[in-house]
Amino acid sequence: MPATDLSLLVEAAQAAAETATRHIGAPLDVRDKPDGQGPVTAADLAVNETLASILQAARPAYGWLSEESAQDPTRGLAPATFIIDPIDGTRNFIEGGEIWAHSLAVCENGAITAAVVYLPLADKLYTAARGHGARLNDAPIAPTGRPGIDGAHVLATRPNLDPAHWPEGVPDVRRAHRPSLAYRLCLVADGSFDAIFTFRDAWEWDVAAGTLIIEEAGATVTDRDGAPLRFNGPTARVGGLVGASHEAAADIARRRGVSAT
Ligand code: IPD
Ligand code: CA
Ligand code: CA
Ligand code: CA
Repeated sequence: MPATDLSLLVEAAQAAAETATRHIGAPLDVRDKPDGQGPVTAADLAVNETLASILQAARPAYGWLSEESAQDPTRGLAPATFIIDPIDGTRNFIEGGEIWAHSLAVCENGAITAAVVYLPLADKLYTAARGHGARLNDAPIAPTGRPGIDGAHVLATRPNLDPAHWPEGVPDVRRAHRPSLAYRLCLVADGSFDAIFTFRDAWEWDVAAGTLIIEEAGATVTDRDGAPLRFNGPTARVGGLVGASHEAAADIARRRGVSAT
């Protein structure tokens, strides 16, 4: 039986984790990227190679959009496109933390159809396929379903949650330097937090997989203006992100004076 896109992404993420963990403790050859994209290491590039060799061999017709690959101007013409962040949370990886992830998605007609966010050191594998729900380590997950934003636990740059009430089993993203954004989206999908905002533009590879995981868990993701996110665009950018339960997202949009869809 041919692998589904989701099982292929899982297989690729596991291979990516082997490559990444082999680099821990070895010289990382850290370089700064232009345009505020942060550092890139030998591990980011090696993981990108691992993912490309597995995914492109399995789906040669698919387009390819990765943080660590040259932009392919023809990807918009492909029947589907991989949207990949080989290591999301590179600064945390460099600092020896565990809040970095392989973020892998398949996009068809601007929407994400399969997604994996895998944190090998934290042992968290988030998966979603459109129409089939979202899972953490194979168990179904759901958001909190909070009806509005009042009193909500929000994951912004500085989460407003009292440290004494930090969710059990969740690495403390406040103490980390730029921890994986893909993982922070998953913390809304699995009900650890009520909502997440990031009003700055984001790269598609930071949010593609997490967007489907939030949606399939049963919550909403929009851009900062309340519009649905569309992927595989020519600039590979999205205009901020708001993720929350449907009612809380509508509440956030109302308070910001935008009309949420
Ligand atoms: C970064 C991380 C970080 C976020 C940055 C991203 P990278 O991704 O997700 O949490 O604040 O905006 O660029 O560079 O580590 O893949
Ligand atoms: Ca980067
Ligand atoms: Ca990233
Ligand atoms: Ca990255």
